[in-house]
Amino acid sequence: MASQDDELMALAAAASRQAYAPYSQLHVGAAIETVRGGRYAGCNVENGALPSGGCAELHAIGAAILAEGPTVQIARVAISATDAEGIPMPIPPCGACRQRIVEFGRSAEVCFLGPDARMVRMRAEELLPQIFVLGKRERS
Ligand code: THU
Repeated sequence: MASQDDELMALAAAASRQAYAPYSQLHVGAAIETVRGGRYAGCNVENGALPSGGCAELHAIGAAILAEGPTVQIARVAISATDAEGIPMPIPPCGACRQRIVEFGRSAEVCFLGPDARMVRMRAEELLPQIFVLGKRERS
């Protein structure tokens, strides 16, 4: 499991090197492993009209849906970030991305560098208790 974690984190780190983050200088990559075993990555893409940018997790989820369809289930997520000099930065996923992850995998394991410079591994539903679900739609 540890080496699988490392591989997914390496995929996230590679994605972070492709980030377009001229405004925040925070280069973020996210990598998803699905229940089917597919792996998909995304990076953050900022925009001069500042709220128009998108998070790395959102783009990784988009890649997973494109490949496996809308019933895709997320098993694991790794998130990695650096500053403009390539120094690793803590990257607990933002609130919107927690909601995006639970939509496709409540029990997904999410791994990221915490504020105290230690790797954190938590289930998506632990990261986002009291999940908002629209109407009666239920997913695992
Ligand atoms: N960002 C992500 O890509 N994922 C997160 O979970 C938190 C924030 C990006 C968005 C923006 O491009 C930059 O980090 C600073 O907020």
